[in-house]
Amino acid sequence: MSLPRSPRLVLSLALVAVPFAGSVQAQGFPPPPVPPENQITAAKTNLGKTLFWDEQLSASGTVACATCHAMEFGGGDPRTAGSVHPGPDASFGTPDDIRGSRGIIGTATDLSYVTTALFDLREQVTSRKALPVINAAYNGLQMWDGRATGRFVDPVTNTVAIQNGGSLESQASGPPLNTIEMAHAGTTWSELAAKVRDARPLALATNLPATLDAWIAGRSYPQLFQEAFGDNNVTARRILFAIATYERTLVSNQAPIDAFRQGNPAALTPNQQRGLQVFNGLGPRCNTCHNEPLFAGPGFFHLGVRPINEDLGRGAITGQPQDNGRFKVPSLRNVGLRAPYFHNGGKATLEEVVDFYARGGDFRTQQSNIQPFPLNPQDRNALVDFLRNGLTDPRVAQGQAPFDHPTLFTRSNRAPRLYGTGTAGSGGRVPRLVAVEPPVLGNPNFSVAMEQGLGGAPAFFLFDMASDPLGLQTLLGARIWLGFTVALTAVEIGGLQGSGNRSGWQSMAFAIPNDALLDGAAFFAQGFAIDPGAPQGLSATGGLEVRFFAGR
Ligand code: HEC
Ligand code: HEC
Repeated sequence: MSLPRSPRLVLSLALVAVPFAGSVQAQGFPPPPVPPENQITAAKTNLGKTLFWDEQLSASGTVACATCHAMEFGGGDPRTAGSVHPGPDASFGTPDDIRGSRGIIGTATDLSYVTTALFDLREQVTSRKALPVINAAYNGLQMWDGRATGRFVDPVTNTVAIQNGGSLESQASGPPLNTIEMAHAGTTWSELAAKVRDARPLALATNLPATLDAWIAGRSYPQLFQEAFGDNNVTARRILFAIATYERTLVSNQAPIDAFRQGNPAALTPNQQRGLQVFNGLGPRCNTCHNEPLFAGPGFFHLGVRPINEDLGRGAITGQPQDNGRFKVPSLRNVGLRAPYFHNGGKATLEEVVDFYARGGDFRTQQSNIQPFPLNPQDRNALVDFLRNGLTDPRVAQGQAPFDHPTLFTRSNRAPRLYGTGTAGSGGRVPRLVAVEPPVLGNPNFSVAMEQGLGGAPAFFLFDMASDPLGLQTLLGARIWLGFTVALTAVEIGGLQGSGNRSGWQSMAFAIPNDALLDGAAFFAQGFAIDPGAPQGLSATGGLEVRFFAGR
């Protein structure tokens, strides 16, 4: 592509370009294309919304599509800034670290936890930042490297289910079997479809939107599939068709820029209008890649966010060297809600992004598609104001229909809670309890694990019906956070796995009886390891509170 040479020339171009763009936009913002094989219906949309928000689609009951794609955060992941992948060098705290999305703890076929090389017993993190699902229906190709294409192949029958325009269906087939995002090792589609068939829709969620609740109306998944597809078979294809249909309704077209383009000049403040001119005019002319009305682009470009060899991006898909280091042009709608930025989540604010563009990128090569340009403080401020406020649809920011949604279990106060502090052992490491799964009545596999202990050390858990929130007592130098009631029970968990400098860990799982009397009952737990490096030979975790609940 050709890039502008002189800022002055570009600015004068922009002054002509702005009114012209206005007349083009008077045509409005058309609905997204829909593949003929998967027409939109209200039932499919509602079913897709139910599935998209259902954490039961993951092995752990902790990850739904919505976990990494939150509406109030522009369809991106609000946890990104705090979710670190160590990058290609595999070590944390170095410049190639990536801010991604947290999925599940490494999980074996039998649902027991396993440590992973990069994340031990913590939730694994994706090696790229999540892209927004809002307005994704307009993308011909999905993902930063465009690897999810419009030809959708049914993952069970291996036949082409959609010839063209099925990139959302193609994309959705990935995460449910991905062992970093949602799945235990060896998950198959037939297993997952059977799990959906037998699950109560959104059993783990709360605060369902009234319209969704009224549509589900206490029905089972087979009954919902019956309404959406004509019979009650729950199949992979139907799950993916429904999710994609829901995504096709996530169109945000009520930002200030839309009212402005429809002829209301007051919809953007004078400063934001100045920002829009800068966007279309200065430097690399943002709009050559981020086209209205989506402020997205076709094509893939190399900006020099990171050195090319760290992530080949589009090049790894096409095999073409000139595509190395190129990434898709993400839509800038709702971008103010989606920090941090770029495929590696490497820029914390829009100010940092704009400064990055003004200096022509951080890792410039012959192949860079942007050039440095001068930017005065007023224009910088105006551009950021436009990006942050002019492109945000208030229905997205406030979670209003069609962006309304249930509350996930993991974002509710039903999630198990850690409290108190641990007592350090060898190497100064403080053992930690891990309990993230839903303590829902009838859960056949509720896991409690301990990590960061001394590898090989004999270890045990204590369970109790009451806590000591002050941790006043000690046992062999370790602070105790349990109430020491008559219910106190010790469970030996054997020697901790792992050795050397790696975290020593062990996990156990038990079934939670499907007994209504347990609803609301709590238990408290703590883990201990016999460790010569602890003050008096016993290291300990802090406390854990788990409160049982009945699913919807
Ligand atoms: C653990 C977090 C996580 C989960 C769970 C997850 N995603 Fe994503 N999603 C991501 C990340 C990260 C990317 C970008 C990955 C890449 O491009 O390599 C992404 C990309 C996408 C995109 C591409 C958007 C675009 O502009 O190209 C869509 C659509 C999407 N996800 C939908 C879904 C759906 C549907 C589900 C559930 C079936 C889902 N995601 C589950 C993290 C997640
Ligand atoms: C040559 C094409 C091109 C031009 C010109 C361009 N961009 Fe981009 N933009 C991209 C690509 C490609 C990405 C993703 C890059 C990556 O993550 O590696 C991106 C990402 C972004 C992001 C981050 C979005 C997110 O969700 O992480 C913002 C914000 C942005 N651009 C704003 C701008 C602004 C402001 C300008 C003008 C100063 C501009 N862009 C000019 C191609 C371009």
